[in-house]
Amino acid sequence: MLSEKMEKALNEQINAEFESAYLYLSMATWFEEQNLDGMANWMMIQFREEETHALKIYDYVNERGGRVLLKPIKGPKTEWDSILQVFEETLEHERLVSSLINNLVNIAVEEKDHATNSMLQWFVDEQVEEEASADKIVNQLKLIGDNPQGIFMLDREMSQRNFVDETAG
Ligand code: FEO
Repeated sequence: MLSEKMEKALNEQINAEFESAYLYLSMATWFEEQNLDGMANWMMIQFREEETHALKIYDYVNERGGRVLLKPIKGPKTEWDSILQVFEETLEHERLVSSLINNLVNIAVEEKDHATNSMLQWFVDEQVEEEASADKIVNQLKLIGDNPQGIFMLDREMSQRNFVDETAG
């Protein structure tokens, strides 16, 4: 059984994952508007991944006999000044999510909840990847600068990203 504190914290994380999903969907719409279909695709996959993160915790709370309580999802930012700014904010956001996950692990340790700690280790590993992939794009964009051909090539590369549900299996 989950402690009250753990259950509340996991519910907050479900909300944070849906909030992340909504932010990335908003970023996808911005890229659609810029006719950068590859980057829009990348963000759309990011959106879908975040939904799977929320549902992984949703399933876990239910499995442990807890109660999922959904809360309103904060409205996302809708406008950005540049492509670089979008990805810098993506990186910043993933760093924030990593700190939320670390905080959840701290609570699991305090509560001596080994099962939740074990479930959370998947997220700890996932956040390393999430930060690394956003960081890589930020660095590529800094190298490209305003070179339209570079942007075109990167957009094309990002159109290749496919959705894989990493939480399955
Ligand atoms: Fe659910 Fe992008 O972390």
